[in-house]
Amino acid sequence: MNDTPAIEAVGLTKMYGGFAAISNVDLTVRRGDFMGLLGPNGAGKSTTLKAITGLLNPTSGTVRIGGISINDHRRAMEHVGCVIETPEPYPLFTPAEILEYVGRLYGLDSREIQIRARDVLETVRMWEWRNKKIGEFSKGMRQRVVLAQALLPNPDTIILDEPTSGLDPRGMVEIRQTLSDLKKMDRSLLISTHILSEVSEICGSVTMIRDGRVIASGDVSKLIHGIGADKEITLEIKTLKPLTSQAIRDLSGCRGVTGTERMGDYTVKLDFSGTTEDQAHVCEMAFRSGLGILAMNEKGADLESLYMELTKGDEIQ
Ligand SMILES: Nc1ncnc2c1ncn2[C@@H]1O[C@H](COP(=O)(O)OP(=O)(O)O)[C@@H](O)[C@H]1O
Ligand SMILES: [Mg+2]
Repeated sequence: MNDTPAIEAVGLTKMYGGFAAISNVDLTVRRGDFMGLLGPNGAGKSTTLKAITGLLNPTSGTVRIGGISINDHRRAMEHVGCVIETPEPYPLFTPAEILEYVGRLYGLDSREIQIRARDVLETVRMWEWRNKKIGEFSKGMRQRVVLAQALLPNPDTIILDEPTSGLDPRGMVEIRQTLSDLKKMDRSLLISTHILSEVSEICGSVTMIRDGRVIASGDVSKLIHGIGADKEITLEIKTLKPLTSQAIRDLSGCRGVTGTERMGDYTVKLDFSGTTEDQAHVCEMAFRSGLGILAMNEKGADLESLYMELTKGDEIQ
């Protein structure tokens, strides 16, 4: 059972007349994994999430949640909490009242509701606000109430459509912190976003979509290193003791290193286009220099570079 993916979508296509909002989208979220569904506005993120949660019928393709077909909607969604296209919670209610109502919908008794409501309001950091009217809240606080609603039935799979969209920086950070807390609780998460750094910060894997099609999918670190083989990146090494000519010669002799640039006494930049094994060897060589390594950074091997590489030639709109 544990090998069964939390979410598995195969060949999802949604046609509106002759227009394909999404086309042949495959997506698998493993249990305990956090996957980012990344793409610009209009890429097909909401359509994909609606098809996955059964809010719309795809023209073709299949969806399984925890191994159960979404056609068996009630059973498939039993352990799923989702927020699609940010519904607004009722302004005249308090978070406690909303959760009471949602809890009843799920058939929980008052005691269970009390326990779960406290739990989720603490998770989204809204416990002190439980008896205040939602109408007085900032947008970020309202988003957290919506998230609490989705978490109330204690779902093991969570699906969120751009939960930080329209929030100010603080609101965004707070939602991300909440999501990071969920990771420790071993939940599976599928979250759509158009913000690259959001994926790097909270997701282990990513599915990138553009114009309704998947352009890359998989483990974030595997994907970004997969392009390292034929793409130049920069390795920056900072040392405790001043760099010696010998140390720089040793590093420049490593396989994959195509150039070195000394940036003062304590920093050297290496142009690198080798394999991940070669890269590990460069790191070992640096450690062996005896200079004391304070930091090693790679630039160019990140989601942003991967995205730029994949969308090269696209017109800037
Ligand atoms: N109900 C609909 N009727 C017609 N076109 C739609 C409908 N819903 C979405 N689309 C189109 O499908 C594409 C993908 O939309 P959407 O999934 O909302 O993208 P995203 O969530 O990534 O911004 C867009 O071009 C959008 O205009
Ligand atoms: Mg959307």
